[in-house]
Amino acid sequence: MTIVVEDLDSAAARARELVGAGGRLLGITGPPGVGKTWLVEQILARTNGVPAAHVPMDGFHLADATLDQLGLREVKGAPETFDVLGYAAALRRIVAREDPVVYVPAFERDLEQPVAGAVAVPRDASLVVTEGNYLLLDEPGWREVHALLDECWYVDVAADLRVRRLVARHVAYGKSSAEAAEWVARSDEANARLVETTKTRADVVVRLG
Ligand SMILES: Nc1ncnc2c1ncn2[C@@H]1O[C@H](COP(=O)(O)OP(=O)(O)OP(=O)(O)O)[C@@H](O)[C@H]1O
Ligand SMILES: [Mg+2]
Repeated sequence: MTIVVEDLDSAAARARELVGAGGRLLGITGPPGVGKTWLVEQILARTNGVPAAHVPMDGFHLADATLDQLGLREVKGAPETFDVLGYAAALRRIVAREDPVVYVPAFERDLEQPVAGAVAVPRDASLVVTEGNYLLLDEPGWREVHALLDECWYVDVAADLRVRRLVARHVAYGKSSAEAAEWVARSDEANARLVETTKTRADVVVRLG
């Protein structure tokens, strides 16, 4: 039976318990706009001094120039528009704890582009939280990502609230309301349908009230 977590303090306590039990790499997944990035920030603010790092899957977005070469610009955000092997390799390095620091890229929302070396993951980070849409996808590359996680949570929220937040975020970063609504309906929601199929593989479902 899947465990359900319904408030932030319980989520943070569970993350600390994972560390206490010898775990280190926590995955958080769920459809676009569900609040994954927000949840990680909330958890990291509640680790009670446990040194922690945040590794966004979004940092492994391919650059627009690469998407143009591959003819994938129109489906930016779909699984094939990420460097999944690079993501898995970075997680492998983080798990191996051989290097004193592993630098990973982050997604810059103003530029809508990844930026290399944006996040430092020190070897002594006791908790590393990685979050993104496709952590539980049953596809080559993504399966390896899943296998590297000590635990994976799926964030669930009512679809109408999720869509409202997504549209608002696109508008906040410069799209018109019409552009935002079109992008969400065509692109984000197609990806959401795919991510929803991965929920059954999660160890924990997070459903905040
Ligand atoms: N529980 C919440 N209460 C209030 N605002 C929230 C909450 N969760 C998320 N938000 C807001 O909703 C928007 C979407 O959240 P967020 O960016 O964390 O989603 P995400 O799952 O990381 O999306 P993506 O898959 O596109 O990266 C953000 O503007 C965020 O601040
Ligand atoms: Mg996010």
